[in-house]
Amino acid sequence: MRVLVVGGGGREHALCWALSRSATIFCAPGNPGTAAVATNLPISPSDHAAILEAVRTHRIDLTVIGPEAPLAAGLVDRLSAAGHHAFGPTADAARIEASKSFAKRVMVEAGVPTAEGRSFRDEGTALAYIGQHPEPLVVKASGLAAGKGVAMCETREEARRAATAMFRGGFGAAGREVVVEEHLYGEELSLLGITDGERVMLLPPSQDHKRIGEGDIGPNTGGMGAYTPVAVASETMLQEAVRSIFEPILRHMASIGAPYRGVLYAGLMIPDSGPPKVLEFNCRLGDPEAQVVLPASDVDLLEHFCSIAMDRVWRPEHDICPPKRAAVTTVLASPGYPKTATTGAAIHLPGETQSDTILFHAGTAVDPEGVLRTAGGRVLCATGLGADVPEAARRSRALAEAIEFQGKVFRRDIAWREIARAGTP
Ligand code: AMP
Ligand code: GLY
Repeated sequence: MRVLVVGGGGREHALCWALSRSATIFCAPGNPGTAAVATNLPISPSDHAAILEAVRTHRIDLTVIGPEAPLAAGLVDRLSAAGHHAFGPTADAARIEASKSFAKRVMVEAGVPTAEGRSFRDEGTALAYIGQHPEPLVVKASGLAAGKGVAMCETREEARRAATAMFRGGFGAAGREVVVEEHLYGEELSLLGITDGERVMLLPPSQDHKRIGEGDIGPNTGGMGAYTPVAVASETMLQEAVRSIFEPILRHMASIGAPYRGVLYAGLMIPDSGPPKVLEFNCRLGDPEAQVVLPASDVDLLEHFCSIAMDRVWRPEHDICPPKRAAVTTVLASPGYPKTATTGAAIHLPGETQSDTILFHAGTAVDPEGVLRTAGGRVLCATGLGADVPEAARRSRALAEAIEFQGKVFRRDIAWREIARAGTP
């Protein structure tokens, strides 16, 4: 079996790593990490014609698309129309992430619990709504904004300023429509479900760390680290999430002519009391969640992806996939991230591989002299494995500390909630 993974970040390295156990892997464009387990093809995920050509040239049996942008732009539709198998949602189904306004509407229509809110195409109506709703409020650019189009506003004045900035082009086309909603409180949880549009198999639950700073302070990022499993996500809570979130939204997507096949990511807020609510849906695996969820479970991804993409009977062995081990990943970022990252620094990796660790590459590149250099905001993901989260966290942090590059930014407190729950220092 020959598989093409589209994308070049840490998530795609984790996908290549997991799929390479049972297939020959190509990655477009990949990164220096994927080069160890796959053949990298220098093709941008936005160049759909070149991807189609590569699928033909390399006789690819299955294409797996990592990031949201090519999914939202219809890469699965294009490959399918040309008679190729692709795993991921169609552009219509990917709107669940690409338009927060669409996501809000389908959640309400399907009766999925979410923050109370509304979407607006017009600045005046949005400002009037903000004026009538209690503080604090959350204002979101509806379109894709790499996790950065969300403003948490303590006051109505801040919310008005955020909405105005979005309508006036602050996030380009993503801000033409704006969602305003109530601020929810609690603990966040990432649930990733593999689905054929009807059934769903949840991968082990994980938690991301969105803020740049230790103690969860500072601006939001794409994610500074993640861990799995999460003790608050009990079996009962996960079963309830399948019943009250995944199944109704999948039924509803099918009923509106946009059946959803692929990985559906539900970002939840778990309040101190009461049922979890959906903050967002994403149309793909999380990054950096994939860098813990895939190493923590021994699930045969290829088997599931093929059955779904090739329209075979899909009988997942579990509704909720049990974790085989704990995993924690610490993201190493370039100085200046998430605003303007400074890149180009030489990276020194530890000489000896540390046991029970995996180093996933994200924004790295090899220069003409063969030196590994930083080439993006998020550079590397240091994953540690262990019998429990505290042990995995120690291994992840030790690996993160052993990697050197100028201005390296990372959090030493990934998984702090779970470590506090476990009562271990
Ligand atoms: P989104 O892209 O909608 O998931 O938002 C990114 C992040 O913003 C989430 O992971 C949360 O940390 C935060 N967020 C979004 N919506 C809300 C909300 N209604 N209440 C509190 N935090 C939110
Ligand atoms: N880590 C958050 C995301 O992938 O959207």
